[in-house]
Amino acid sequence: MGEYITANEVNLCLNIQAYQEAVHSQSYSYMLDTICEPQQRNEILYQWKDDKHLLARNTFIGEQYNTFYHNQTPENLMRTVVANYILEGVYFYSGFMFFYNLGRNNRMPGSVQIIRYINRDENTHLWLFRSMLLELKKENPELFTAEKVADYREMIRTGCEQEIAWGHYAIGDDVSGLTKQMITDYVQYLGNLRCNGLGFEKLYKGHDEEPEALKWVSQYSNANTIKTDFFEARSTAYAKSGALEDDL
Ligand SMILES: [Fe+2]
Repeated sequence: MGEYITANEVNLCLNIQAYQEAVHSQSYSYMLDTICEPQQRNEILYQWKDDKHLLARNTFIGEQYNTFYHNQTPENLMRTVVANYILEGVYFYSGFMFFYNLGRNNRMPGSVQIIRYINRDENTHLWLFRSMLLELKKENPELFTAEKVADYREMIRTGCEQEIAWGHYAIGDDVSGLTKQMITDYVQYLGNLRCNGLGFEKLYKGHDEEPEALKWVSQYSNANTIKTDFFEARSTAYAKSGALEDDL
């Protein structure tokens, strides 16, 4: 991606992002190591190759990258940026919700804390990609014709449908505290939120707010929420220092 971005500060952020993703995959691997043997951990990490549901979900995103790899047009680059926006803004967020459900049931608190750190980073990635898309909209309006926007919206819709199908399959109605309906509602809310972030018309009627039954998600996902004593709380947010602004 970096090769196609000319703004140095954006490339710098993309490098930070790549480093953070490496830390995240290490974190997931560490979490698995605490609950199973290394062999089983590897099987789980490579399940995407054998599980047909997981493969279908990943193929949709992977195809956008493959298409761009073979045919490097501005349109195909746009589709990879949108695919990344879906991956980080719908797939990942829906996954975080599963862990926060464990958290509110007082299960695996250490893993929930790790997910909160990952969520904090993903939030910045999402912000970066959204800003890149909004900037492209100004610089290259030809990539945002009504027809193309309809295509990007359909991509977001497909991403949401894949995520709902995956959630119903992987979680279904068998996990305490979650139901298929909650998964559907949450993913549809995310789909609308992501469309709204890009100035696109929303995809699903209603679903404008975090669903009532899932209000607990933002309590975990918001890195700035400190509910404990200030001196005892572990800070998870990336603080922005106003004093340093003119020194850079
Ligand atoms: Fe990310």
